[in-house]
Amino acid sequence: MSQTARRGADHIPSRSDDGHAPSDQSLRIHRLVQTEINAGFADDVRRGLSAETKRLFPKYFYDALGSLLFDAICLLPEYYLTRAENEILERDADEIVASVHDGGPVTLLEMGSGSAIKTRLVIEALLKRQTRLLYVPVDISATALETSARVLLQSYPSLTVEAYASDYDTALRYMHDSAWREGRVLALFLGSNIGNFEEAEARAFLRSLRGVLRAGDALLLGADLKKDPAVLEAAYDDALGVTAAFNLNLLARINRELDADFDLRTFRHIASYDAQGGRVEAFIESDRPQRVNIGKLGLEVTFAAGERIHTENSHKYDLAQLSQLATGAGFTRARTWFDHAEQFSSNLFVAVEQADLIKP
Ligand code: AVI
Repeated sequence: MSQTARRGADHIPSRSDDGHAPSDQSLRIHRLVQTEINAGFADDVRRGLSAETKRLFPKYFYDALGSLLFDAICLLPEYYLTRAENEILERDADEIVASVHDGGPVTLLEMGSGSAIKTRLVIEALLKRQTRLLYVPVDISATALETSARVLLQSYPSLTVEAYASDYDTALRYMHDSAWREGRVLALFLGSNIGNFEEAEARAFLRSLRGVLRAGDALLLGADLKKDPAVLEAAYDDALGVTAAFNLNLLARINRELDADFDLRTFRHIASYDAQGGRVEAFIESDRPQRVNIGKLGLEVTFAAGERIHTENSHKYDLAQLSQLATGAGFTRARTWFDHAEQFSSNLFVAVEQADLIKP
């Protein structure tokens, strides 16, 4: 993705549902990335499907249909992650916020805010302690940002939203050099999104995030926990076949956007837990030898029977790994909250004093 940034922001007037019109300063969207969200798709598909071990990146799941399928996944009985994190935030948001609040205003930063549904619970807990709140969501989708910000502003007129439509690296670099905060910061990275990073990527991301924080600021990190492989595999291969559709939509998307002729009925979704790597791995497997043409790439891809495309890793953690992750990035793990079944964890990492922070 291009790192080209347009240093500017759109001021967008908004109106609350009680007729009170927040000033046009209530919502600003900084569009930092000029290129398409999915710039690089064609190049990545070419590279990924020409490689010895075929691979497609999970960020390409989330086109319009893929995003709807992911929302449906979050409602599945087998996919406990969303419900578990909601349970924690519904029960413990006040306590979480109390651990961060120092009496002054707290700014709420959220990486990958998406629809910001769970964020409401944290916003409400913060607004019990302060009259105004600056909310700083970062998301690659400007549309998702604008939609969710408008809904939030309708519910909470005392909110100011300063949104960054950007990839994480670009937003963190920009924020490093700008005055974006008021008082202490509580950063959110929810939904076990950290699990889709490889270990080195997770460390680098947390270090970059730490780079825009000050000692005493906090990060609430949602992380899925290691557990019975049967529970994990069901969560990623549900009976209704929604996760299979979510995965196979990658091929449908290549058909739609790159003029390819994948026959989706000849491929199947596989999800298996690798206990050693501590991750659920997702693949698309060809059930026969076949050739696929990708028109816009002028590329023919051959598959052997049983050959797989690796599409996603979802890493699972234990508390020791989470502490290590925190320490390695300049935080300390202050406290962890669990859902009643102890399947999921919400971890409060507090930024510690550090002499040698790397600029993101
Ligand atoms: C977005 N992410 C945290 C999900 C996960 O659990 O890894 C994506 C997902 N893939 C299959 N089901 C859900």
